[in-house]
Amino acid sequence: AYVVTENCIKCKYQDCVEVCPVDCFYEGENFLVINPDECIDCGVCEPECPAEAIFPDSDPKAAAWTDANRQYAGSWPNITRKGDAPADADEWKGKPDKTKLLSP
Ligand code: SF4
Ligand code: F3S
Repeated sequence: AYVVTENCIKCKYQDCVEVCPVDCFYEGENFLVINPDECIDCGVCEPECPAEAIFPDSDPKAAAWTDANRQYAGSWPNITRKGDAPADADEWKGKPDKTKLLSP
């Protein structure tokens, strides 16, 4: 499965959601997650993300995020249409140490 990682926090561009053939993205206040149990590993969302936040769960960068994707996917609403990114999304792009800013 693919999962969303730290780079998405406060960027939330949402370019990923409409390309997913199985609609397995879920929306939090400032972050999106993939339900790794619904993802069919097609890989089409990965290059769509301007923040390079999406990785296969086999990637070391995703290791700490798979459980969080699964957990939040269980409580957040499904999202299938791209909404507006936060006004300051570009300012947060690529910033380190955003994990603590994730709104659960
Ligand atoms: Fe959806 Fe494919 Fe991305 Fe999985 S890899 S979340 S199925 S677009
Ligand atoms: Fe996040 Fe990238 Fe999608 S910033 S909302 S994973 S396009």
